[in-house]
Amino acid sequence: MKLKRKIPLIDQHDKFGFWGGKFGGSFIPETLKKPIDDLTKDFQKLRKNKNFIKKRNFYFKNYIGSPTRFIKLENLTEYLGGAQIWAKVVSDANGGAHKIYNATVHALICKNMGKKYIVGDTGAGYAGKMLSMAAKKFGLKCKIFMGAKDIKRQKPNCDAMRKNGAEIVPVFSGSQTLVDAVSECMRYWVSNCDTTHMCVGSTVGPNIFVKICGWSTSQISRELKKQIKKKFNKIPNKVKLINCVGGGSSAYGFWSEFVDYPKSQIELIGVEAGGPKKSKLHAAPLSRGAKLGVLHGAASYVCQNSEGQIKETESISAGLDYPGVSPIHCFLKDTKRARYTYATDEDALNAYKLVTKLEKINPSLEPSHAFAEAIKIAPKLSKNTIVIVNSCGDAKKDRDILRKKLGKKI
Ligand SMILES: Cc1ncc(COP(=O)(O)O)c(C=O)c1O
Repeated sequence: MKLKRKIPLIDQHDKFGFWGGKFGGSFIPETLKKPIDDLTKDFQKLRKNKNFIKKRNFYFKNYIGSPTRFIKLENLTEYLGGAQIWAKVVSDANGGAHKIYNATVHALICKNMGKKYIVGDTGAGYAGKMLSMAAKKFGLKCKIFMGAKDIKRQKPNCDAMRKNGAEIVPVFSGSQTLVDAVSECMRYWVSNCDTTHMCVGSTVGPNIFVKICGWSTSQISRELKKQIKKKFNKIPNKVKLINCVGGGSSAYGFWSEFVDYPKSQIELIGVEAGGPKKSKLHAAPLSRGAKLGVLHGAASYVCQNSEGQIKETESISAGLDYPGVSPIHCFLKDTKRARYTYATDEDALNAYKLVTKLEKINPSLEPSHAFAEAIKIAPKLSKNTIVIVNSCGDAKKDRDILRKKLGKKI
């Protein structure tokens, strides 16, 4: 199993849709075969269509606000006393997170297919909020499936979805989190696929959804590459790109332009949700030894018990609280191109506290996991090492949790 050079990772699957021969695929009911084939054909045409790309780029710039900032975190660097710490402030994007890239592209595809309804899943609420924004912008009717537990813990994003005219469908089954929301959304789509387009909120799900999402978020690394070249006059040595990993869409978007560089020059580090320190539960399939399984139409490493039943997960971060992960990250792990680790709830909260004390950025609990790893490794690294963290979400949505845990008003 080898990575190929000069071919986008989203296209490095075999003819059956598997990366590395075993991750991904399309495990779908017969009724979805045609809509998924249609979507695949449409997307493959659209991504080569100059007008469509022009339109996408127009909205990325004028609606999403690309490029987002790339800044040095001077105070954090000085405090840690080792590597330079930089941030790509993707939370500058319209709506406050990277999920807007995928949502915008899906809304454009939906319109292009002549469908008037769009549905999607959400955990942290950002995928849902962004889809509701894009739906409003492009005149589509929108339904968002969300676990009842997440509705309670991500109220600001729910308020935004309703304000944008979307219907939130609460999901009470299972753990009442993202995993159940995705299942319910897919179930709904099976019965409504003639009139309705489905947006999967991360690089997960049947092959085509992984591809569309990766294609959309890769804008982040296109921008970053230009910004790094401008700041350093080249792509320097000793760069570490640190990103949190839930389903894996922000990490994919952050890394995609850099996968071909040698690991010794650009190291890719993914940080999963380790859950509370004292709990056995976590949401870290890549870094805590999960086995291969099938979830939401794709094969990937999945937190499961010995019978293959999906295991309950736990994380302070709703966006990372998911038992599966993108097949592309499984591929990057097995080829050893990326290294995956985890941060606990406590690590993420401490990172949030330190970053917001020293810097004028406000990372949500998801990227706070990535900052936790940066804070851990930076003091041991040389001053010419460049650690770049994707600050992919704004903490406004975490207002209630942060107030409860830290007594902090944000
Ligand atoms: C801000 C933010 N970061 C990260 C994630 C995790 O998802 P992914 O790994 O697909 O980027 C989410 C998911 O909701 C999110 O809202």
